Amino acid sequence: MVIKLDYNNVKSNVLGCENGLDIEQEFAAFKDKVKDIIVDLNKKKDKPGQWLQWMNLGYNEETVWLVKEYASLVRNRFKNVLVLGIGGSALGGLAVTEALLKPYWNLLPAEKRDNYPKIFFLDNIDPDQIQGLLDMLDLKSTLVNVITKSGSTAETMAQYMIVKDILERELGDNYRRNIVVTTDKETGYLRQLADQEGYKSFTVPDDVGGRFSVFSAVGLLPFALVGIDIDEIINGIKDMDLALKNTDILENIAAQNALIHYLLDTQKGKNLTVMMPYSSRLKYISDWFVQLWAESLGKEFDNDGNKINCGPTPIKALGVTDQHSQVQLYNEGPNDKVINFIRVEEFDNITKIPNIFEYTGIGYLGGKTINELLNAEADATKVALVDFGKPNVTITIPKVNGYYIAQLLYMLEVQTAIAGELYNIDTFNQPGVEQAKNYTYALMGRAGYEDSAEALKEKITKN
Ligand code: PA5
Repeated sequence: MVIKLDYNNVKSNVLGCENGLDIEQEFAAFKDKVKDIIVDLNKKKDKPGQWLQWMNLGYNEETVWLVKEYASLVRNRFKNVLVLGIGGSALGGLAVTEALLKPYWNLLPAEKRDNYPKIFFLDNIDPDQIQGLLDMLDLKSTLVNVITKSGSTAETMAQYMIVKDILERELGDNYRRNIVVTTDKETGYLRQLADQEGYKSFTVPDDVGGRFSVFSAVGLLPFALVGIDIDEIINGIKDMDLALKNTDILENIAAQNALIHYLLDTQKGKNLTVMMPYSSRLKYISDWFVQLWAESLGKEFDNDGNKINCGPTPIKALGVTDQHSQVQLYNEGPNDKVINFIRVEEFDNITKIPNIFEYTGIGYLGGKTINELLNAEADATKVALVDFGKPNVTITIPKVNGYYIAQLLYMLEVQTAIAGELYNIDTFNQPGVEQAKNYTYALMGRAGYEDSAEALKEKITKN
């Protein structure tokens, strides 16, 4: 069984012609184009330089084996796992561990974590946060997973330098046992250092960009270290991959959602994409999606060199929390958004609201469940959006588990790749990010960037 997409609330017969789409007609018009895109992606995925190797990660048995072997080797050796990384090297890991580990994992006693370690992600370089983490964490009992595909990202390398220095002072030569790196197989400073220092290392495969790397060792290693069943994840990717190989748009939910967003953006001016799961455990999936959608689709030029400055702006929201913050804007504000709800059919718990205060204004809640309240609020929000003429789609997952979370993430990756083809852009580059990275290197005095440093300092003073 695969997850479902309901796009009824983007139809013109529901929203009116100004805001809705004649879906049957559009699906028919784009049938061949979408088919060509899917065939092409599957044809190109094994070719070097296409950046489509992420489509093969569900079949990388060697990595799964290596990750499991290392995770079982270090089982019970560490109390904590600390992931150092940023962007695509952190967001997938954070999203999936938050979804699949028990809520408040790090606050649970070891026996309630089956003696698996606590896990922390340091994906920023806020000096106060770093110091706070170091004050709280005993690095001697921490396995540090340094993740950077390029092996040179300033933020991650700076974090690594700080942590390595402390570990070496505290543990002497044995500090190496506390470091495991995930990086390119041959290029980058981290690869050089890993070889020199003799760290255990894992590889980010060629042609897998950071934001598409969650199912490589970038994600799988942290998952296995905290006891997440990575076979279940692999099964989810494979089943979704099989479903998304279907070239018929009527049967392919990634193609449907890609086309819906593309058309609503380009024809109806809905250039904001809201990701709103109704589950706290899925909160960071929005963060992961925001990067995927933004870095992949926000481009200055199309593949033919035309300046198009395209890309829907992703926004993260959480149901029901953001009903009390953002939904006022979604309902009554500009009609420029597509809301993506994620609904969970069955929560692990059914939480009863006690039958108290029967004769008061809140008595109606008594005897119901929190689950009923959440579902009522989600349904109500959806219907209200339709009343205001606002397009929305709902992705439904049966349960929050590794199988369905993998399906969800893989489906959103394929959706992004198909959307990129519809916009006729390079989905897999990120020249805008690289520019700021290079400016940072120049300002921090990295060798080879001296020439641009002076001009840059002048620009900064002026701005
Ligand atoms: O998606 C991307 O490519 C980026 O967000 C990178 O993941 C991010 O810049 C970190 O890069 P690296 O993994 O090389 O440290």
